Amino acid sequence: MPMQVDLAQAITLLKHGGVVAIPTETVYGLAADASNEAALHQVYSIKQRPIDNPLIVHIADASKVSDWAAEFPPLAQKLASAFWPGPFTLVLQAKEHVSPIVRGNQPTVALRVPSHPTTLKLLQESGLALAAPSANKFTQLSPTTAEHVTTGLGEAVPVLDGGACRVGIESTIVSVENEDWRLLRLGMISEGTIERIAGKPALKNDKPLPKVPGQHLQHYSPRTPTKLFESRDILIKFTLTQKNCAVLLFGEGVVPNSPCFNLPNDPNEAAERLYDTLHQMDAMKVELLLIEAPPKTPEWLAILDRLCRAVH
Ligand code: TXA
Ligand code: MG
Repeated sequence: MPMQVDLAQAITLLKHGGVVAIPTETVYGLAADASNEAALHQVYSIKQRPIDNPLIVHIADASKVSDWAAEFPPLAQKLASAFWPGPFTLVLQAKEHVSPIVRGNQPTVALRVPSHPTTLKLLQESGLALAAPSANKFTQLSPTTAEHVTTGLGEAVPVLDGGACRVGIESTIVSVENEDWRLLRLGMISEGTIERIAGKPALKNDKPLPKVPGQHLQHYSPRTPTKLFESRDILIKFTLTQKNCAVLLFGEGVVPNSPCFNLPNDPNEAAERLYDTLHQMDAMKVELLLIEAPPKTPEWLAILDRLCRAVH
């Protein structure tokens, strides 16, 4: 049985330096008081995450940015007012007092105002800022339900159940340096949408990115070996040579002799169900997961990015 806690219990635990898995609109996070280094160490240890990978600090509203960031440039303010609360993370120059543990030794800090009502209430009522990476072990699939958290991290981790996540994949991450912005991680808020609000295109990621977990090639992976196919025809041909695999298709259809999962043709609906479907496929204990690539149009890019990283 998962260790479920209510809002008041979650606040008490977090204020006393404990960790709690919390719901957000993107994925569940493993939360700790972002100012408490002992609590932050627990997050790294439960996730088995390398200590130099920075965490996202979740705040109640944009007025809290100045507690963490040395500057809040006009461009960052514009993006924050367009996308917060929501699946959008801003990376800004950190104030000196921000723990190097939360920053993964970077000079910057990542900030997000989530829109999930339970977690917004938790942030507002506790007065805390919460460092919360996705509530899964390093490199594994992110959780989008309370059950996923318990399956991945064990029953000792308390969970505040807020239902299934509505966005379904991790936030878009943007860093702002003076008047320019850079896309660090794709998400359901697309590059084009950000460009329209920013009034200018993103800087190209030509300089090496800070060492961050979302950039690892293998990340967001099912335990079962996983292959991605350019087209359904190639996938179906491959199944003729294989037994014991499960298949994921976008849109309708079946594959002879293999259990088949289908995601909707709409990218927002597909994102919402993506990780839950991969968790279900993983639980089938087959030898191989075979995935059809979604269309290569801009609105599918974040999903394609996660699928490319799932392959191993
Ligand atoms: O949707 C989300 O963002 C979820 C929910 C729980 O909010 N959180 C999440 O956290 O995905 P995590 O730890 O799995 O990914 C955090 C990402 C890292 O991949 C890294 O790219 C970026 O945040 N990040 C954090 N701090 C950074 C920094 N100072 N500079 C650059 N990137 C940073
Ligand atoms: Mg993660």
